[in-house]
Amino acid sequence: MRAHPAGPRHGDLVTDPGAMVAAPTAEAVDALAESVWPRHCSRGADGAMTIGGVDVRDIAADHGSPVYVLDEVDLRSRAREYASAYRQAGASRVYYAAKAFLSVAVARWVFEEGLGIDVASGGELAVAVRAGVPGDALLMHGNNKSMAEITAAIEYGVGRIVVDSFEEIARVASAAADAGVVQPVMVRATVGVEAHTHEFIATAHEDQKFGLSAETGAAEEAVRRIAKLPSLSLVGLHSHIGSQIFDSSGFEVAAGRIVSLAQRLHEEQGIDIAELNLGGGMGIAYVDSDDPINVADMAAQIGRIASRACADAGIDEPTLAFEPGRAIVGPAGITLYEVGTIKPVELDSGVVRTYVSVDGGMSDNIRTALYGAEYSVRLASRSSSAPPMLCRVVGKHCESGDVVVRDAWLPEDLAPGDLLAVAATGAYCRSMASNYNYLTRPGVVGVRDGAASTIIRRETMDDLLGLDTHA
Ligand code: LLP
Repeated sequence: MRAHPAGPRHGDLVTDPGAMVAAPTAEAVDALAESVWPRHCSRGADGAMTIGGVDVRDIAADHGSPVYVLDEVDLRSRAREYASAYRQAGASRVYYAAKAFLSVAVARWVFEEGLGIDVASGGELAVAVRAGVPGDALLMHGNNKSMAEITAAIEYGVGRIVVDSFEEIARVASAAADAGVVQPVMVRATVGVEAHTHEFIATAHEDQKFGLSAETGAAEEAVRRIAKLPSLSLVGLHSHIGSQIFDSSGFEVAAGRIVSLAQRLHEEQGIDIAELNLGGGMGIAYVDSDDPINVADMAAQIGRIASRACADAGIDEPTLAFEPGRAIVGPAGITLYEVGTIKPVELDSGVVRTYVSVDGGMSDNIRTALYGAEYSVRLASRSSSAPPMLCRVVGKHCESGDVVVRDAWLPEDLAPGDLLAVAATGAYCRSMASNYNYLTRPGVVGVRDGAASTIIRRETMDDLLGLDTHA
């Protein structure tokens, strides 16, 4: 596996971006694979796509494009499935990782469906607070939380602060002492496992910024310091091994290592670990060929792995916790774009690749440019039986790396004004969006039972110019 350009813990790179299989049929290019598209997404009688019972042409007409669309019923059902499957596997709490996508509405939906929320900044905390999610359902992450973020979390009664450094132990302890409370904390331990999709790398040490090493004694030292501080109470240990993981093998190595840390803490310091948070990273299908293990099996396997590791180590089994983000919101979202220009380019090989430019790009989905992520794209405003052509769906930004879907097949009769839909963009698209080239960030529309409503409104030029003190 090649190293990820953005560092560890990210999605896999496409290893051979130019490799294309033989042209698919027109039907295949029109089809909406269940594993990739939201659960309530299909083509209506006239061939146009509907999502949550709403015609995508109406969404674009009413809300503009590009626009992110979230299938609320789909998102809620995934939240419920994760809450129930992981509870059954021994979890006391399943947190939704807000970094994948957060808004007040989504915070409420996931909380109503039984999830807590993992926030990784004061901003994410503020959204969860505004949504009315109670403090004990929140957990705070971050490798460099500011004093203001720590204080806000403690004042709100955030149930778990995951400490990531020695400095932070002292900071949280002093903020908790000032507030006159005992703050529950967890220690983020690194266990030398980095997992992506089917593969993981296991080493003794990790060369990255998060956590405290389970191997070198840093995590044990953190526990020792916490035990001496009356304003902190240690709840447990935390480990997050990566993202877009398709099976439980990486969790098995990680659980073994973190449980042996718990065993050492028991034997050497007499400290029992009540809770083990094994992080998030459960993978989703972006393209037809992606085949992640189903939710219930993954949960059951990880539960068994943790039980076995504890039994082998001779320690009492802690309760578990998890933090899936992408798996809850990713598959529930699509992005709609309008086609602007269509440009056939003849390659040296004689193959023609058609560049289809849409009205957004790397500012609303950086994942293709940043990670080489793959996506599925469909003609959404109508169906077509025209023969497929090899395309690259690109944005409108001033750089050639501004690619939304690197290799796609779209019908030959594609025309400016057509709407395209890109699947599985619910996670890490809006949350990583930018204003590059002064594009306004798209809005987010929720759909359910035939009705669409704005969750986050589209930015306006006034919003952006309002930040410019000379405007
Ligand atoms: N917990 C911790 C401590 C994390 O760092 C993350 C993700 C999660 C939970 C949630 O992971 P998920 O279940 O969503 O995979 N921007 C990248 C992903 C970065 C993930 C960072 N941490 C992407 O677009 O693929």
